Amino acid sequence: SNQFCDSGIGYGDSTSGNEFGSSNSKLLIKGGTVVNANHKQIADVYVEDGIILAVNPNIRVGDEVTVIDATGKFVMPGGIDPHTHLEFEFMGTETVDDFFSGQAAALAGGTTMHIDFVIPHNGNLTAGFEAYEKKAKKSCMDYGFHMAITKWDEAVSREMELMVKDKGINSFKFFMAYKGSLMINDELLLQGFKKCKSLGALAMVHAENGDAVHEGQNRMTELGITGPEGHSLSRPAVLEGEATARAIRLAEFVNTPLYVVHVMSIDALEEIAKARNSGQRVIGEPVVSGLVLDESWLWHPDFETAAKYVMSPPIRKRGHDKALQAALSTGVLQLVGTDHCAFNSTQKAFGIEDFRKIPNGVNGIEERMHLVWDTLVESGQISVTDYVRLTSTECARIFNIYPRKGAILPGSDADIIILNPNSSFEITSKSHHSRLDTNVYEGRRGKGKVEVTIAGGKVVWENNEVKVTPGVGRYIEMAPFNYLFDGLDKKDAIYLNSLQAPVKRQKYTT
Ligand code: URP
Ligand code: ZN
Ligand code: ZN
Ligand code: ZN
Repeated sequence: SNQFCDSGIGYGDSTSGNEFGSSNSKLLIKGGTVVNANHKQIADVYVEDGIILAVNPNIRVGDEVTVIDATGKFVMPGGIDPHTHLEFEFMGTETVDDFFSGQAAALAGGTTMHIDFVIPHNGNLTAGFEAYEKKAKKSCMDYGFHMAITKWDEAVSREMELMVKDKGINSFKFFMAYKGSLMINDELLLQGFKKCKSLGALAMVHAENGDAVHEGQNRMTELGITGPEGHSLSRPAVLEGEATARAIRLAEFVNTPLYVVHVMSIDALEEIAKARNSGQRVIGEPVVSGLVLDESWLWHPDFETAAKYVMSPPIRKRGHDKALQAALSTGVLQLVGTDHCAFNSTQKAFGIEDFRKIPNGVNGIEERMHLVWDTLVESGQISVTDYVRLTSTECARIFNIYPRKGAILPGSDADIIILNPNSSFEITSKSHHSRLDTNVYEGRRGKGKVEVTIAGGKVVWENNEVKVTPGVGRYIEMAPFNYLFDGLDKKDAIYLNSLQAPVKRQKYTT
């Protein structure tokens, strides 16, 4: 669809003024509570040319500066979504949100950067990267890339090095599910982990046992269960737990850090907790759908309603959601993503007679900041500083872009949100900014509203209106060897020293 047909999205103009004053390169945010992951204080924030220049009480400025009053509100780093799929070709179709509409939606919800997954083109990493570079040209906010690894040979191994050294990629995702398309086996997983370790790149896994999922799907089909509930029944939490445990143990064997994407179940989170308790460097990323929804929707009698909740790993039974929330509040899990992967009701209907053909994915890029606030801060489970850590700062640290991103500090990029804790939000597909015709959070209301979003020093969301400019979003290169790699070489040396020399044996004679 044509990007200029998007309803509810205004187009900014970087050359002339407008009613938002967003063309003004000087901004002062006055009197708010400025929150970073480790500290909060009442202060003013002064921005010039896209960069935060000062954070201090009572900053004085001249008339040419646009002043935004934030009294009684929280001034926080814009959200960073570590897990999105914009313009993603998957299961015979393509997601409806591209790098423009998905990002406009993100900005309207207080997210100012996202990291998307480049899919290699027929196994070729460079071709995949170039295709995503092209898709991302219309970006209206900053973005980074992870890359998926879908096959293994010398060329892939060499290209991984090129991606890290020349293209700003510092993470690779391995799919342990989607047999017959993206799935890889344990041999590839081991080779991939070894390569990641040598490059200082973070290994990420989609952890489900794809062979067993295939078996489960056949089982449901034989039983005549062809509707969306079959999706959940065919790939139970035990298969997520198994793959999570396997990936963790292989990462331990290679001695490389591991990032588990979309942790959806108690089974998976217990494996992560156990590994972390024993000192292993494992990061767990729950997604909003897993934190606030439960699987009962998949049993809804209306196919269109049920099908919109189909994603993998599946949304689980009530109880898993609460456990994932608790794990975030205690530090067992470290950051929140969305896995925003938007298929409309026409696309979901490809699977009307067979749940295996329902394109997998749910929305969330626009809703994440509000739902995490309402679910975790309003319920008293986490502090406001924790909120900043889980939605922004930890992601910036893990992907090595802190403190350029994820902080309100002098020198950081001016990606800032103003959240009013006394205001409320309501989610509906009628007013959201995604191109989706549905929303898995339809009708949900809550407390705490992102009233202003500033991206790259420009006001892009204010008075319930988005005003964005295609093409201003920048590709953020991410360097390898994040903090999770610190000291790993020492652990390797200790391991090697612990091995005894080969036992010398007498030559065997008959
Ligand atoms: O159902 C999902 N999660 N779709 C997106 C692809 C993936 O596995 O992340
Ligand atoms: Zn293609
Ligand atoms: Zn996945
Ligand atoms: Zn995903």
